[in-house]
Amino acid sequence: MAPVLLRSRQVVGVLLDSPREGRRSVRRLSLNVSGRELAPAISIRRTFREFWPDTRGLRRLFAAGVVFAILAALCEVVAIRLFGHITDEVLTTRELDAFWVPAFIWLGLAAIAGAASFGGTYLTALGAERFLLGLRDRVYAHIQTLAPEFSEKRRLGDLMARLTDDVEAIEELVGSGLVRLITTSASVVFFAGAAFLIRWDLALITMALIPLFLVVSKVFASRFRVAAARERRSNGAMNSVLEEGLANQPLVQAYNRQGAESRRLHDEGQGWLRANMTQAWLSGLYGPAVQVIETVCLIVILGFGAWEIASGRLTIGGLLAFAAYLAMLYPAVQSLGQLALTVSEAAAGSDRVIEILSSKPGVTDADDAVDAGRTSGRIEFDRVGFAYPGRNRPVLRDLSFTAGPGEVVVFSGPSGAGKSTLVKLLLRFYDPDHGRILLDGIDLRRLTRRSLRENVTVLHQETLMFSGTVRDNIAYARPDATIDEVMKAAETAGVHEFAKALPQGYETPVGQRGRLLSGGQRQRIAIARAILRDAPVLVLDEPMTGLDAATAAQVMRPLQRLMAGRTTLLITHDMRYVPENARVVEIEPVRQRDRIRLKRAGVPFHPFRGNNCKRP
Ligand SMILES: Nc1ncnc2c1ncn2[C@@H]1O[C@H](COP(=O)(O)OP(=O)(O)O)[C@@H](O)[C@H]1O
Ligand SMILES: [Mg+2]
Repeated sequence: MAPVLLRSRQVVGVLLDSPREGRRSVRRLSLNVSGRELAPAISIRRTFREFWPDTRGLRRLFAAGVVFAILAALCEVVAIRLFGHITDEVLTTRELDAFWVPAFIWLGLAAIAGAASFGGTYLTALGAERFLLGLRDRVYAHIQTLAPEFSEKRRLGDLMARLTDDVEAIEELVGSGLVRLITTSASVVFFAGAAFLIRWDLALITMALIPLFLVVSKVFASRFRVAAARERRSNGAMNSVLEEGLANQPLVQAYNRQGAESRRLHDEGQGWLRANMTQAWLSGLYGPAVQVIETVCLIVILGFGAWEIASGRLTIGGLLAFAAYLAMLYPAVQSLGQLALTVSEAAAGSDRVIEILSSKPGVTDADDAVDAGRTSGRIEFDRVGFAYPGRNRPVLRDLSFTAGPGEVVVFSGPSGAGKSTLVKLLLRFYDPDHGRILLDGIDLRRLTRRSLRENVTVLHQETLMFSGTVRDNIAYARPDATIDEVMKAAETAGVHEFAKALPQGYETPVGQRGRLLSGGQRQRIAIARAILRDAPVLVLDEPMTGLDAATAAQVMRPLQRLMAGRTTLLITHDMRYVPENARVVEIEPVRQRDRIRLKRAGVPFHPFRGNNCKRP
């Protein structure tokens, strides 16, 4: 019976292994190793300081989880004692009358323990999931307040890992990790205490074997960490091969590189296989190693016990209960050792999230920022100078021009001269180092960013699209727009011409980043989106790039309809698409010449500096 009991760890098993544990332990362990390689591990205290507030509203859930888990452990303690009692009073004496009462109590205890264990697992999981939901929302919302440059500078896969795996690692420290720490510690105290109550001297001897478990855990854990780090690296490499290969599929096939790409995946996959096999080997060996130690302990106890029983100082029931307590105690101790390890590893993962949260947006609203409302769209750049943060060479110097409603100002100049940079300044992703930018005479720094951006529509060089339908992509500008408004914008933008021929019309999915459409079609959807948005200022950043002459001509007419009545800044170096009455500002790289020249539709004007860029 004892061995059966020794293996009956249902309740404690649930206590020690949090529900998410099995699913994630390998991933988490490996993740934190890579986290540690990327940045020094930060202290657990800092993690708690940053993320403890995220448990607000969940603390009662976690506390209830702890209470239930402890109740379950207590039931287990009493049940084992009852088992000893039954052995001594019923089995040894063969008096069946004494069996029923303890048997029913045992049954009752099992029911309570089961219910408590369920409650503990459920409530802790609920708290953990809500924590994850809240923290992920918070980190994502924070990223959206940062300039787009924040994510442009980083690998998307890495950012996504931070929002998923790293956030989970934090939860396992601050949320369910804490729950496990408390409940496992309580179990250790209960089981050790119960063993001491039976025979303190015997308990002392057997406790002396506890360090053996810790040594074995340690030996395995360090090896496991190394293997996990390799697995993580291979996994990252494999993901990037896949990501690049799939995103560039047209290139791969056109250049007949399919075989090379497949080999790259295979090679990385082989590294992954080897690392995983090392892990499988280690975890396969770990179980038996622990079992050997447990068996040694059991034999030691039985040996001592036999001697003690012979001399009448211990009953058989007492011995069996004692053995059972130890069988519960050892895994609890082991789990505590592992917890300490994983907790410190989890802390390392959290600094990747803290790095995001501590990134400040370069530009924020002033305390007394005003709402611009709907402006007339008059733009003025007044001797604007700007260098990117951390770069000493300015991109723009002394740039001045004005543009009012109905006017088109064209910016041309070589690639890298700073044309797109002036758009970023206009949207206030950055503030100029010198000079000012005004909208309707108000310095942009005095406006809320939200109201400023409401007044400006940008059509980017590469049409940005989501993978929804044609209609979704147009309505993105104004989710509350009626279907009639969407249709009207689509008609003006020339979307209707091709949309009606699509298999499901406006409900046709556009594919990953709109890849199922042609460049000209994508651009016309973007124009429809801009028409629907109806902002007074329009910025077109090389809208014809990548379009052939015929397609560009098709796009031109909708574009002119869009420009009508608005202040338009048109960035292009193709003078074919510049309207007749447009003024042209030529922007040259600062390092060659820090001057800006004014030309009219290809005809050079006198070089000028300063604020001369008004309509001649
Ligand atoms: N986020 C950035 N950080 C640092 N330098 C940048 C950044 N974005 C652009 N640059 C640099 O600023 C210069 C102007 O870029 P850009 O305005 O995009 O030129 P373009 O006139 O082709 O639109 C380039 O030399 C580019 O390398
Ligand atoms: Mg550009």
